[in-house]
Amino acid sequence: APFSDSPVGTGRLIVVSNRIPKSNEVPAGGLVNAMHEALTGAGGLWIGAADPSEQALDGLTRIGSGDYDRATFAITEAEHIGYYLGYSNSVLWPLFHHRPDLLDISESEFEAYAAVNRRVARAIASTVKPDDLIWIQDYHFLMVAQELRALGIANRIGLFLHIPFPNPTDVMALPQVAALSSWLAAHDIVGLQTMRDVTSANEVLRHDPKAQVLRGGKWLRENRTFSVLSFPIGIDAEKFAKTAEAARKPDLQLADDAPLLIGVDRLDYSKGLVQRFEAFDDYLSRRAKGDPRPTFLQIAPPSREDVAAYQEIREELERTAGSINGAHADLDWTPLRYVRRHVDRDLIAGLYRRADAALVTPLADGMNIVAKEFVAAQDAEDPGVLILSHFAGAAEQMDAALLINPFDKRSFSDAIDRAIHMPLEERRERHQTLREGVFEKDIRWWTDSFLARLSQVRP
Ligand code: F6P
Repeated sequence: APFSDSPVGTGRLIVVSNRIPKSNEVPAGGLVNAMHEALTGAGGLWIGAADPSEQALDGLTRIGSGDYDRATFAITEAEHIGYYLGYSNSVLWPLFHHRPDLLDISESEFEAYAAVNRRVARAIASTVKPDDLIWIQDYHFLMVAQELRALGIANRIGLFLHIPFPNPTDVMALPQVAALSSWLAAHDIVGLQTMRDVTSANEVLRHDPKAQVLRGGKWLRENRTFSVLSFPIGIDAEKFAKTAEAARKPDLQLADDAPLLIGVDRLDYSKGLVQRFEAFDDYLSRRAKGDPRPTFLQIAPPSREDVAAYQEIREELERTAGSINGAHADLDWTPLRYVRRHVDRDLIAGLYRRADAALVTPLADGMNIVAKEFVAAQDAEDPGVLILSHFAGAAEQMDAALLINPFDKRSFSDAIDRAIHMPLEERRERHQTLREGVFEKDIRWWTDSFLARLSQVRP
C-alpha cells in the first residue's frame, strides 16, 4: 500500500533516524519522542534501522501506521558492527564529543557506514514525491543527503544533529574531514543544538576553499546554498510535569530531612560520571558535621556495551562508587546509590520531583534533556536546584541553573553545598525562570521552528 499523504506544505514529512520504535507504543526517550511528536502533528513517514539480519535487501518494510507510517531499512550483522558500533559510535561520537583520544578508526567500518547511508538514500528515493520534506536525524546519516542528490533528488532536505559539532582542531582527526563539508552542503538546512555548535560548524566550513559565506549566514558551495542554524531541542514539558505530579512518592527509605541528589544518564564517558562521583566525594569529605546526611542516587543504564570505551568507563565508575561508599558509608547510611538497571520513566519523573538537586554535569553534550525534565517535574512551591555543566548544550538556555565546570572538583563540590543549603526564595526565583524557558521552547516549538524553516526553502 502507498504511504499516506499529509500536509507539510503540500507534501509529506519523511523522517529518518537510526532508532525507531518497533511497536505502536508511544516511545520514551529524547530523539524518538521528539520524532513521534513531530510526525503526530504533521503525519508522514518515519524510517529507521531494522534489527540486524543475515541479509540486507534494498527497500522498506512497513512496521506500523496510525497518525503516521513507520518503516525500516535492513542492515546485516556486519553492518551493525561497522556502521553503528564502528563509524557512528567509535569515530563520530567520540570525535564530536571532543574525545579524539578515544577514536577507533577502521577503513572497513567507514565502508559499512557509507553502504548503509547509500541504502537509506535509495530507500527514500523509492518513495519520495516532489513536495515531500526530508528530515534526517543525527550523526548516523551524515552522507544520506549527498547520496540523495547523486540520485537526482531535489527535495528540501534538513539535517538535525543531536550531538555537539566538533571544533576545527578536533575535526582534523577524522579521516574523512575533507568530505565533511560536502556532506553538510547537500542539505538545505543543517540544524544544530546551540550557537556554540553553529560557530564551530562555520569555522570548519571556513577551512573549505570551495565553501563561500553569503550574507545572512548562508553558505554557497558548488552551486548549492545552505544554512547552518541552531534549534535547541525541547521536551513535552506539560506532559512531563503531569507525569511527575501524578507519580506516586518513591519509597527510598530516607530520613525526612535527608537531602536527595539525583543523576540520570546513559552510561557514557561524555556524561562526566566519574568527575561527578568525585565531586560528591569531595563534598562528603568537607561537609559540616551537623548537616543532615545526603544521598546521591545515580541511575545509569549501560549502552553500546560492545564498544571498548564503554566497558572501560563502566569499570572505572564501579571502582569509584565502591571506594566512595567504602570511605563514607555508615551502618545506617549509603551516601551513593548507583543503579544500573533501567528505571521506568514515570518513576524517574517522581524521583525528579522528590529530589532536592539534580546533577546534570556532562563533559560534552548536545543538549541534555534531563536538565529540562528535572525542571518540568519540580513543585514550584518548593523546587529543587539544577546543577548544570557549562558543557551541556542546555546551559546556553538555562543560565538560571547553578552552572559548574565538571573538571574543577572543588568548585563543583561547592555548588553541591550551595544547592543543599539554598534558601527557598532563591530556589523559587531560579526555578521560575528555568520553568518559563522549558515550557516556552518545548518540543512543539522545536519541531515547528525547524520544519517552518525547512519548508520556506525554495526546492
Ligand atoms: O544524543 C544523541 C542520541 O541519539 C540521543 O538522542 C539518544 O538518547 C542516544 O543518542 C541514543 O543512543 P543509542 O541509540 O546509540 O542507544
